[in-house]
Amino acid sequence: MKVLVIGNGGREHALRWRLEKSPSVTQIFRADADYVQFVEKSGIDLTVVGPEAPLVAGVVDQFRARGLAIVGPTAENAALEGSKIHSKRFMERIGIPTARFRTVSSATEAQTALAEFRYPMVLKTDGLAAGKGVVIAQNRAEAEEAIATLPFPMVMEEFLEGEEVSFIVLCDGKRAVPLEPSQDHKRVFDNDQGPNTGGMGAFSDSRIITEAQQQHIMDRIINPVIAATQFTGFLYAGLMMTADGPSVLEFNVRLGDPETQPLMMRLESDWGEVLMAAARGSLNCDSLEWSPEPATCIVMASGGYPGHFETGKQITGIENVKDAVVFEAATKHESSHLLTNGGRVLGVTAKGLDLKTSIDKAYAAVSQIHFEGMHYRRDIGERGLRRWFER
Ligand code: AMP
Ligand code: GLY
Repeated sequence: MKVLVIGNGGREHALRWRLEKSPSVTQIFRADADYVQFVEKSGIDLTVVGPEAPLVAGVVDQFRARGLAIVGPTAENAALEGSKIHSKRFMERIGIPTARFRTVSSATEAQTALAEFRYPMVLKTDGLAAGKGVVIAQNRAEAEEAIATLPFPMVMEEFLEGEEVSFIVLCDGKRAVPLEPSQDHKRVFDNDQGPNTGGMGAFSDSRIITEAQQQHIMDRIINPVIAATQFTGFLYAGLMMTADGPSVLEFNVRLGDPETQPLMMRLESDWGEVLMAAARGSLNCDSLEWSPEPATCIVMASGGYPGHFETGKQITGIENVKDAVVFEAATKHESSHLLTNGGRVLGVTAKGLDLKTSIDKAYAAVSQIHFEGMHYRRDIGERGLRRWFER
């Protein structure tokens, strides 16, 4: 079958890379606009959507109206990610565990509501903000500053403590199949310092959660959402594993970036076949096939990211990388040179016998690559290692 992947970041490169190895897939296409026209003209059998923007804009509804097979949620369900207020109210209504919250629509209302929270507390803008609309206020002064700078309406909520887990499932409207668990690293600097980014690295290891925890998450969080929404596509629950159990920080309606990079390295099922089944509403398995080996992705970013950065820097050394895959997230090819073309440039990803080996292999590959101003975290996966060690 012919498959179109919408989107052009690292997540989409990893999706295409896995689809290329899929026996059921003969040809893979990419497109960034006029999808319906492209699909009808090129005879595409299946479309997979990477980023949230086309989903929120209703690409799935458009495809379905024409009888075209696509993996993703309707615009209505995409609002689970598109609006934090909608998402929090939905969770409250159907009883999904999430941080206690309050929605406010003006600075005066927000000031008054502060009395209901202890510090640290969390303030979140309502709409899509690429990970940058969340402030964790350590004290009243920081909360006041967030109230003065973030746009309204916003959600104010209690701060939760624990390990964060990216729990992603593939849904066909009736049932959900979990992908392996993964962990992102959202802050720009080592030891989770500095501002939030889209994600500076991720690893996937089956030991991130136990089988009992996975079952609990399916029963208490995922299955109630599917039942209430007939969700189709990827549902990503950003979880905080608190002392009282898993609590939902956010829902995304797509695969995570960079979580997809290590996940695709570990996946062994025929991805084209699985995705087609999801698009047709006929997923008929409870689990997918995975390599038991963990995988780790290190993001190499442009100097200055997530703030101001320059593009067009030449990338060298990728040809020397062994035993790892370099997923290109923001690059352009210009007269036989590879140049940087965005903030998160490369996702260098490796699989290994254990988590430590996968981390070491990924960093060995990173050390071969160079571009002016590049920076990356040196501690991707270390929290995982510490936890396995403590157990
Ligand atoms: P969100 O976009 O809601 O996932 O928030 C971005 C990041 O802020 C999350 O990945 C967490 O690291 C952090 N965060 C959000 N909400 C909370 C919360 N209630 N308690 C602790 N950390 C939070
Ligand atoms: N890695 C976080 C996200 O994709 O939202």
